[in-house]
Amino acid sequence: MLAERVRNIAPSATLAIDAKAKQLRKDGKDVVIFGAGEPDFNTPENIKLAAIKAVNSNITRYTPVGGIPELKKAVADKLKRENNLDYDASEIIVSCGGKHSLYNIAMAVLEKGDEAILPVPYWVSYEEMIKLAEAKPVFCQTDERFKLTAAMVEEKISPKTKMLILNSPSNPSGAIVNPDEIRKIAKLAVDNNFYVVSDEVYEHFVYGSNEQVSIASLGDEIKKLTIVSNSVSKTYAMTGWRIGYTAASREIIKAMDNLQSHSTSNPSSIAQMAALEALNGLQDSVKLMVKAFDERRRFIHKRLNEIEGVSCAEPEGAFYAFPDVSETGMGSMEFSSKLLDEALVAVVPGIAFGSDRHVRLSYATSIKEIERGLDRIDKWVKQKTVKIIS
Ligand SMILES: Cc1ncc(COP(=O)(O)O)c(C=O)c1O
Repeated sequence: MLAERVRNIAPSATLAIDAKAKQLRKDGKDVVIFGAGEPDFNTPENIKLAAIKAVNSNITRYTPVGGIPELKKAVADKLKRENNLDYDASEIIVSCGGKHSLYNIAMAVLEKGDEAILPVPYWVSYEEMIKLAEAKPVFCQTDERFKLTAAMVEEKISPKTKMLILNSPSNPSGAIVNPDEIRKIAKLAVDNNFYVVSDEVYEHFVYGSNEQVSIASLGDEIKKLTIVSNSVSKTYAMTGWRIGYTAASREIIKAMDNLQSHSTSNPSSIAQMAALEALNGLQDSVKLMVKAFDERRRFIHKRLNEIEGVSCAEPEGAFYAFPDVSETGMGSMEFSSKLLDEALVAVVPGIAFGSDRHVRLSYATSIKEIERGLDRIDKWVKQKTVKIIS
């Protein structure tokens, strides 16, 4: 009796592993979990205090559907300050998390017959959102370091191309699209007249000499075609607060506002006040968090590559490592579920992100925990490969 729309949604391959890992922990098993898609830091104090103040001041009623004017202004100021982008309030909408922003974008822009180019590996929800909007995902392979080039995108363009999804730094690979390629991709979008959805939720998690360029900042023509999606979830360790935002043309924002007015209405008034403080307040906590992630990144990358049969491209951003485990002879689902059963380590199978050769490890956990987990993986892979050889 269910609608075809939901019957076609692929169940998340990651959920089974995650649920099992949590159950094992509940049963008293010492499981090391690399599954988290969120910072292990707490929301900074100034942001929590802003929310408490909002409650005590009775900011507890409906707000305008697309967010309070002060928050839209804070988003506009942030986009100017950090990304050199000029948007006014009518070109901004606040939604219930970046995921909600992206869902509304898909619903507002895509329809039957459209194609959306999706670089692989990709964050799980993009594919389902495209399909829910009745459009077709067109997968675009990247290289062995997960680097996307304009030439790779160009090959996938057809008269039906409506959108390209850019997620740089990427979940799950941590790869960043090089600024030169971003420039060329912008030209492709302008020449072929398709939208670029730029999901910038990991923009602050950029390490070493890597540079993240916001594609909309490259000129008026590409800005008109870009839909910038972002959220406070990762940058400010606010995943539970559910505040995301979109900047795009007035036409798109109006359509998203209409859609949102009949689904969620406004995001939580209290969370909006917290997000206002996050964007306008001191930014020190972001720097501290990024510094900690960088240390962990270098550690996990080195340790993973010391494991025989495992090779890992250096993550350039975000907080994930995406090692190739195909030399172990196991697919990503088999690798992940056996690793959990036999060595009590939870990783996410790459198949969920479009690559069965890889698994995803989040390093949003302490160095000590990373070390414990990698010791176990090392030992377990050794046992497995001995068995395969013998
Ligand atoms: C690439 C990417 N985009 C968007 C989101 C959505 O984050 P949120 O809805 O918490 O803002 C996530 C969360 O994992 C993500 O990894």
